[in-house]
Amino acid sequence: MLGPMFLTHLECTACEGSFSPLGLPRACPDCQAPLAARYDLEAAGAALDRSTYASRPGRLWDLAEVLPLADPSHAVTLGEGGTPLLELPRLAAELGVARLTYKDEGQNPTGSFKARGLSVAVTMAKAGGATALAVPSAGNAGGALAAYGARAGLPVVLAMPQDVPAANRIEAEVTGAEVHLLPGTIADCGRWIRERAAEHSWFDLSTLAEPYRVEGKKTMGFELACQLGWTLPDVLLYPTGGGTGLVGIWKAFDEMEAMGWLPKGAPRPRMIAVQAAGCAPMVEAWASGAERATAPANPHTCAAGLRVPTPKGDRWMLDVLRSSHGRAIAIEDEHLLASTRRLGRSEGLFGAPEVGALVAALATLRAEDHIGHNEHVALIATGAGHKYLECFG
Ligand SMILES: Cc1ncc(COP(=O)(O)O)c(C=O)c1O
Ligand SMILES: [Zn+2]
Repeated sequence: MLGPMFLTHLECTACEGSFSPLGLPRACPDCQAPLAARYDLEAAGAALDRSTYASRPGRLWDLAEVLPLADPSHAVTLGEGGTPLLELPRLAAELGVARLTYKDEGQNPTGSFKARGLSVAVTMAKAGGATALAVPSAGNAGGALAAYGARAGLPVVLAMPQDVPAANRIEAEVTGAEVHLLPGTIADCGRWIRERAAEHSWFDLSTLAEPYRVEGKKTMGFELACQLGWTLPDVLLYPTGGGTGLVGIWKAFDEMEAMGWLPKGAPRPRMIAVQAAGCAPMVEAWASGAERATAPANPHTCAAGLRVPTPKGDRWMLDVLRSSHGRAIAIEDEHLLASTRRLGRSEGLFGAPEVGALVAALATLRAEDHIGHNEHVALIATGAGHKYLECFG
């Protein structure tokens, strides 16, 4: 069955225009900015209270009341979500913070948080009538789309940079996707898909080109609050590429307030966007006070998920950084790889290089006293290190 449970409309994140969620919605037809799903949150909060949610098994679709599909039995799922929030006491002591928690998104199907966005987006694309799916991907999103597309019984076409981590290419091929390896970055791959999508009737699931990947990613914010007993950390570090995770988590905080799950005006974390020094358009935009990000000349980093020179969510992200009194910070590859190993040695966790960047950013921000010794810092550990063996060999 297609049709919203509490979804009411889609709203443009720039011009605030209102649009129907039926069919296969994409970006704002008037100004091309991303669309955000809007719900009757009072009704959703009345239908599902937070203790009932907490008593459910602990998977993404437990949040069906704030997801866009009416009947969760039609969800395209591989058991995503419900990842543990681990305490990192040894690393907290080494880095000098009161509490350090780690949302281990590497435990998702296909080893990254991309599973969340693609479970919801593929579900909605299938429900809306898509017959083939396509995405440009720096790595993990392609692997996840291949898996969820296969699960949905829909063909998948991927465009990935030639130097994509081998695991991402192989997992996509094994799960039946048609993989095109192209010169350049995800931006070049995106152009390649856009030029061919109409002719081949591919539905393009690029980051923020449609409204539902962010809906999947927001579930990280709901889970985090639930796992912390309906409180939030003081600081949240997020490895930022296209930006859907960062804005999705902030959207979750807004929605939980509107549902009565968090008190109105409850303290929110300072949101910190962490990028790689070789590709840091958000850090540049933040530092210069620009409204939009500008693509760096020669984007490079071994943290493949951070090699996103033209993030579509730039304005939305800058809004979140400002509203949360957060900031953006860039980390050199050498430093983020060393920090991935430090995390592994201290806590037994093999994170993706993107996750190592968070540890490095925490060390830097703590040393500069932007993060205080008495604060609780949460790391959104977006992916597993096993998918990047070439970085550690
Ligand atoms: C492991 C990992 N972390 C972070 C990111 C960036 O995520 P977002 O696009 O939500 O900013 C990616 C994207 O590919 C990724 O694979
Ligand atoms: Zn608009």
